[in-house]
Amino acid sequence: MLTMGKAITRRRAVAVLTATLLATGMAACGNSDTGEQPADDGKLTLGFSQVGAESGWRTANTNSIKESAKEANIELKFDDAQGKQENQITAIRNYIQQKVDVIAFSPVVESGWDTVLKEAKDAGIPVILTDRSVDSADKSLYKTFIGSDFVKEGKLSGEWLVNETKTATGPVNIVELQGTTGSAPANDRKKGFGEAIKANPNLKIIASQTGEFTRAGGKAVMEQFLKANPKIDVLFAHNDDMGLGALEAITAAGKVPGKDIKIITIDAVKDGMQALADGKFNFIAECSPLLGPQLMDLVKKVKAGETIPQRIETQETTFTPEQAKAALPTRKY
Ligand code: AHR
Repeated sequence: MLTMGKAITRRRAVAVLTATLLATGMAACGNSDTGEQPADDGKLTLGFSQVGAESGWRTANTNSIKESAKEANIELKFDDAQGKQENQITAIRNYIQQKVDVIAFSPVVESGWDTVLKEAKDAGIPVILTDRSVDSADKSLYKTFIGSDFVKEGKLSGEWLVNETKTATGPVNIVELQGTTGSAPANDRKKGFGEAIKANPNLKIIASQTGEFTRAGGKAVMEQFLKANPKIDVLFAHNDDMGLGALEAITAAGKVPGKDIKIITIDAVKDGMQALADGKFNFIAECSPLLGPQLMDLVKKVKAGETIPQRIETQETTFTPEQAKAALPTRKY
């Protein structure tokens, strides 16, 4: 039998225990000290459809997006479309069904997006284009496009060549390795380069074909170019990876890359920068893949109903061999 005093002590002990359990339970649901929210309470969800894994640039871009989502406490649903537009459309439709907060994607090609973009708009899900744009006339189908100016990259490459060949007295034969057919970077880089080289009538593109933005593609197409054309003075490759593949073909054909054939590429990923520093490439126009932090920032702003610019252009530069040597030690990708 309990005495009165013992009963009061026991009631107090139970009260203390209950308070402790409640406090522990609350801490498990959220950390009020750090202001952290519980895992799926108020956490934004981003559905991202990536082009594929065709190049060093793409790998760096994927890493940037995954790391930034983690840092921004955004739940990322990520899909690799393996270079196929139909896979991207399927992924976007899945994200609509899952009612994600925001959809972002890097379109493998420029055309054919209106229907699925309209589906997202009708479902009230904002879309952000990253890296590559679409040719939709209705700009209300997406909130913004964040990425490089590909025409400018082609133009800067062409202008470098015009300057480099200004004393040439005869024809300068150029071969061009294009990116994926129908993609914005392939269309725009070709356009910018073509416009710039008009300044020197000696500059002639004698062959132009897609190498799909891959090393293997660059190597295979360069082998054909070398077989079909006895005099090639310049290679313009729409990305570093194709240029790196072409290096193998040029060397195997007994020519010296960077000397017998001048090489211009775009991206400035580490491997490309190393080839430039080694004198195997001659010029690179930069295209930055580090779009993740800006994208996460935009996701938050769009969801908060803030007005954002329709176009956000990535700031980039160009590199000569000397500049590549200086930049390599701190290059992030
Ligand atoms: O869209 C960006 C381009 O796609 C990069 O230049 C290329 O390397 C990538 O595959």
